Amino acid sequence: MKTNIALIGFMGSGKSTAGQRLARRLGREFIELDRLIEQRAGDTIPEIFKERGESGFRDLEEAVIEEVSRSAKNAVIALGGGAVLRPVNVERLKASATLVYMETEVEVLQDRLARSRKRPLLDRPDRDRIIEELHEARRSVYETAADITVRTGRRPFAAVINEIIEKL
Ligand code: S3P
Repeated sequence: MKTNIALIGFMGSGKSTAGQRLARRLGREFIELDRLIEQRAGDTIPEIFKERGESGFRDLEEAVIEEVSRSAKNAVIALGGGAVLRPVNVERLKASATLVYMETEVEVLQDRLARSRKRPLLDRPDRDRIIEELHEARRSVYETAADITVRTGRRPFAAVINEIIEKL
C-alpha cells in the first residue's frame, strides 16, 4: 500500500527542507535516506564515495531503499538525487509511496550548489557544467518516476508544501 510520500529531484532542489516541513504539517515521521545510508555504513557520503566508488554507494542506496520501502509506513521520505536512477528502486518506491518530483530551474540549482562540500559528484572545477549535464540527463527519469510534480526554487517553501498537500 502507498502510505508513504517520497520526495525526488536533483541535488539542491530542497527535498530535505520540504520533507521535514511536510512531515511536521502532516504529523508524520520524516526519513532522510542519505542519513540512513550513513548510519548503516557508519560513514559519511563523501567517505563512502571515496572508499567504495559511486557504484558502491548505489548498492548501499538500493539496500536502504529496499529496507525503507518494506518497513516505513505513513512516512515522508527525502531521497538522494540519484535514488531513482536504478529502475528496481523506482519499482520498490512506487509500491510503497507517492512520488513527488521537486522540479527546479537549473540556474537555481547551480546557485544553491555552488559552495556545497558534501556532494562528491560535484567535486570538480567545472561544477556548473556538470550540474547542467546531470540535470539534462536525469530530468526525464524524475518526470517518468513522478506521480506528482511541483515547481520549487523561486518560491517560498510554504507554497510548495501547500501545493504538495493539495495534489496528494
Ligand atoms: C546524489 C545526491 C545526494 C547523495 C549523493 C548522490 C546524486 O543527495 O545521495 O551525493 O546522485 O544526485 P542530495 O540530492 O540530497 O544532495
